[in-house]
Amino acid sequence: MRIVAICGSPHGLRGNTGRLLDEVTAGVREEGGDVELFTLSGVTVKPCVGCDTCHIRGECPINDDFTDLRKALLASDAFIIASPNYIFSVTAQLKAFMDRCCGLIHCLALEGKYGAVVETSGGGGDDEVLDYLRRFVGSLGAYCVGGVGSPAAGPRTFPDEEALFARARELGRELCRSAKEKREFPEQEGARLAFAARMRGLVSHMREFWPYEYEYWQRLGKL
Ligand SMILES: Cc1cc2nc3c(=O)[nH]c(=O)nc-3n(C[C@H](O)[C@H](O)[C@H](O)COP(=O)(O)O)c2cc1C
Repeated sequence: MRIVAICGSPHGLRGNTGRLLDEVTAGVREEGGDVELFTLSGVTVKPCVGCDTCHIRGECPINDDFTDLRKALLASDAFIIASPNYIFSVTAQLKAFMDRCCGLIHCLALEGKYGAVVETSGGGGDDEVLDYLRRFVGSLGAYCVGGVGSPAAGPRTFPDEEALFARARELGRELCRSAKEKREFPEQEGARLAFAARMRGLVSHMREFWPYEYEYWQRLGKL
């Protein structure tokens, strides 16, 4: 199983989020998965400029490392998205990446794949950020297997660390198993279908302006 992990912390893997992500990726490896790791501190993903080229031609004209991340995600079986809590949300680095995924979202291009989400904070609000990341995973068309988050207790340490790391490892194992077994998550089906209907409506409405996406949906026989 090929699992892509994307860490949105400016501290890369040396920070709190990287520490928690380490446990999740260890779980993936225990289950036999291969992890391809990207730290957004180590690559360049510039903000979206809203040119709509991804909708029109299926490619992004910004020349940076997003091309490699996109390719890796499309070739993956599953993926992990990790971020510290920055003001009730994710880091600007991760948000730039998420915005650049807009074309993938309109096409639900990661349908059939599985995601997991990871978050750390200084003082809480973890569920709010985890929920946001879960919605992002769903908007790409993927199932979200679960999430793990925690406030930090100091640099790269957490309260009740043993239990937290056990949950993080289990999340990694579950992600890998879900992809291997092609599991279904019936409780996510309603939201998935509702979002797909929204994207189908949007792409259909914009067919004159966004030929790539309209033709993508047509090729899938979904329009
Ligand atoms: C700009 C900035 C904004 C932050 N906003 C929040 C916040 O709203 N809530 C919170 O609990 N922690 C907040 N924090 C703390 C980080 O989420 C926390 O230290 C996190 O574990 C850092 O992860 P990292 O070491 O992987 O970068 C913020 C930190 C920074 C630098």
